[in-house]
Amino acid sequence: MSEPSPVELPPEVDTNVPSTARVYDALLGGTDNFEVDREAAEVFIRHVPQAQVCAHENRSALIRGVEYLVRAAGIDQLLDIGCGLPSGKNTHQAAQEINPDARVVYVDHDPMVVAHGRAMLEGNPGAVIVHGELRDPDAIMDDPAVRAGLDFDRPIALMVIGMIMQISDDERPNDILASLMDRLPSGSRLFITSWPDTGEPQQHALSRACIETLGNGWCRPVEELRKHFLGMELDPPGLEYIARWFPENPDGPVRAVEDLEPYERTQMAGIAVNA
Ligand SMILES: C[S@@+](CC[C@H](N)C(=O)[O-])C[C@H]1O[C@@H](n2cnc3c(N)ncnc32)[C@H](O)[C@@H]1O
Repeated sequence: MSEPSPVELPPEVDTNVPSTARVYDALLGGTDNFEVDREAAEVFIRHVPQAQVCAHENRSALIRGVEYLVRAAGIDQLLDIGCGLPSGKNTHQAAQEINPDARVVYVDHDPMVVAHGRAMLEGNPGAVIVHGELRDPDAIMDDPAVRAGLDFDRPIALMVIGMIMQISDDERPNDILASLMDRLPSGSRLFITSWPDTGEPQQHALSRACIETLGNGWCRPVEELRKHFLGMELDPPGLEYIARWFPENPDGPVRAVEDLEPYERTQMAGIAVNA
């Protein structure tokens, strides 16, 4: 196993309680996690033996979505909320590989994510990370670093990847998403991945593992996931299982839903455009 990144631990980090970012990092095979996170990752694997594959597939969908946004949709500004700990390839790397002038603002509420993100982004004038809470969308949009990092007169892609399932119905996730999208100009995109509930045991098992270890993480009926996109038109292929979601090649050969393994029906992705 390689050494953890040499980043000073912020004093607010509680190493006795698992955090979403660190558990996800553990599932991805990263080193920025503690024993308590690895134990939680084991709970995920007990519930869903392919939980690590699921994490990698979500991450691949994130990169595919960024590549589509920058290369095909002509987006050069991305606001990635709930960005997570740095992983193999990150949003700014995928975006700037295609367009070196692409700008990325990362937001996360986990102080460890922010500390590691700052270290990763040192010397990159086109990308920044800020501490922010999705449940307070106005604070994110009014944050001076967010305003400085993005031009709000031009389209921006809002990314909420692998985290809207952590916002309960009572917290009104769609109102939060609407508050954010209301602040973005026409032509902006909303890119989400989340957990569908079509009644399958593996979907419920993933949700149970998350609730048991992190206290949240609800799969939702596909129609509820569709509502996250606030009635905006979805770019092809629409809201799809990640294993069938290739936005740069939406008509390419895809596997039939019935041919997907049950674990491959635990995550969906979509990108919508605001008119
Ligand atoms: C499962 S990770 C996903 C990371 C990355 N988006 C991805 O899909 O690869 C969820 C991330 O969202 C962050 N997060 C969860 N709830 C949040 C909230 N309410 N506000 C801001 N960040 C949040 C966590 O700290 C974590 O880094």
